[in-house]
Amino acid sequence: MREPSMETENGALTAATTTTTAVTSPPPMASSPRQALVERLKDYGQEDIFSLWDELSPDEKDFLVREVENLDLPRIDRIIRCSLHSQGLPVAAIEPVPENWVSTVDGRTMEDREKWWKMGLKTIYEGKLGVVLLSGGQGTRLGSSDPKGCFNIGLPSGKSLFQIQAERILCVQRLAAQVVSEGPIRPVTIHWYIMTSPFTDEATRKYFSSHKYFGLEPDQISFFQQGTLPCVTKDGKFIMETPFSLAKAPDGNGGVYAALKCSRLLEDMASRGIKYVDCYGVDNVLVRVADPTFLGYFIDKGAASAAKVVRKAYPQEQVGVFVRRGKGGPLTVVEYSELDQTMASAINQRTGRLQYCWSNVCLHMFTLDFLNQVATGLEKDSVYHLAEKKIPSMNGYTMGLKLEQFIFDSFPYAPSTALFEVLREEEFAPVKNVNGSNFDTPESARLLVLRLHTRWVIAAGGFLTHSVPLYATGVEVSPLCSYAGENLEAICRGRTFHAPCEISL
Ligand code: UD1
Repeated sequence: MREPSMETENGALTAATTTTTAVTSPPPMASSPRQALVERLKDYGQEDIFSLWDELSPDEKDFLVREVENLDLPRIDRIIRCSLHSQGLPVAAIEPVPENWVSTVDGRTMEDREKWWKMGLKTIYEGKLGVVLLSGGQGTRLGSSDPKGCFNIGLPSGKSLFQIQAERILCVQRLAAQVVSEGPIRPVTIHWYIMTSPFTDEATRKYFSSHKYFGLEPDQISFFQQGTLPCVTKDGKFIMETPFSLAKAPDGNGGVYAALKCSRLLEDMASRGIKYVDCYGVDNVLVRVADPTFLGYFIDKGAASAAKVVRKAYPQEQVGVFVRRGKGGPLTVVEYSELDQTMASAINQRTGRLQYCWSNVCLHMFTLDFLNQVATGLEKDSVYHLAEKKIPSMNGYTMGLKLEQFIFDSFPYAPSTALFEVLREEEFAPVKNVNGSNFDTPESARLLVLRLHTRWVIAAGGFLTHSVPLYATGVEVSPLCSYAGENLEAICRGRTFHAPCEISL
């Protein structure tokens, strides 16, 4: 690929402007706009995408022209070059996160928990928390092309991931209103920003509207789309999905920063008085959306960003782990695919635990100020992760590269990041793979939910009967009744429930 000089780039822009004019009052197709676009693409070594031009129908030609006109070629070229180039560069060695950087479950007192819970609820009551859901991914590994959030994991209620999360938001709103209000209770609203991609946007919006937003106010939800980038060959050439369209893929869950900025939603947050932003992945059934305790801790700590972590269960577990990049370097996450096996299994001799033991569960908190800074900072950093994947191409599936940013790429920019340990049995039930796989399936997540909720019900004085072994069943507590096991005594004490069933209001 040629490196465009300023002159060339300006030349290309001039050509593009000419092209736009040409398209609105079409001259003969043979000389322009195709010719102008080809000249422009030559500056980036991508002119081959026009190689089948003569075989295209007029509509297909129009499609291809529009496709190319809509590409921000200088930016895309910069991302491709920088990302491919960085592959060959040495990276600083990683180090474990110092133990005292993590707020551990054991290190917390009851007073801490109560203080953070109340601080969080008060902040929510004041309207200062916004919630961002990362939902641009499809359920491909679950064998579905629907948005992952529509997935029903087989709980007694039959609720989808989206519904469970919406109801947790309703529950926190109610708790904040009850706990903080003095005098008459006033309604509390948590604004929910839902990131989709071109592959999930329409289906997500339809799903929410056909389910009446699960009881939330339609205007408390903003849907926005993340960007896409062309998929490329190992030498950086665009892959064609058809003779007239490029193979494209979402730009990773780190695309959220640019997408929030471009859709002017950071401004929207500021105008609503939001100061803190909870950001999480869609595929964890136990996710505590808008968790008051985490928010209270975050505010107390005064950090710019934070992440919940769980202890890694075993060396090969498919989760990213928090590390320090280089001696005294910044905190970041290394994905399981990037961590070599010796390091993954290394034991800390003093604690007897895994050295790289703090797993990322894709639950983050940011200040709005930091989101504003990082959206600009990351845009300048054009090094994206390269994922080698099967790409649909006009010649069938071919191996190619997807370019992605990750949500945790922002951490090295943060003046401070706080790590907050949570218990996996309380907060981490990932749904990644189809039933029948060895781990992280809808079935394993379903059992994790039933086990936790059964414990809540028994602790609240309830009883259970069951006609299948208890390890395979249990009760489900509606998020409308309880967020984290609280307030269940009035519903459960002295009552017997026959599992499986849902306990709801
Ligand atoms: C993610 C984490 C990993 C963590 C694991 C825990 C990232 C990059 N990796 O891995 O460190 O241990 O969860 O379960 O966060 N998404 C988008 N747009 C995209 C791609 C993904 O919105 O372009 C969303 C997905 O819908 C999902 C979340 O990001 O909600 C996580 O993405 P996924 O690709 O499932 O990441 P994992 O490999 O599971």
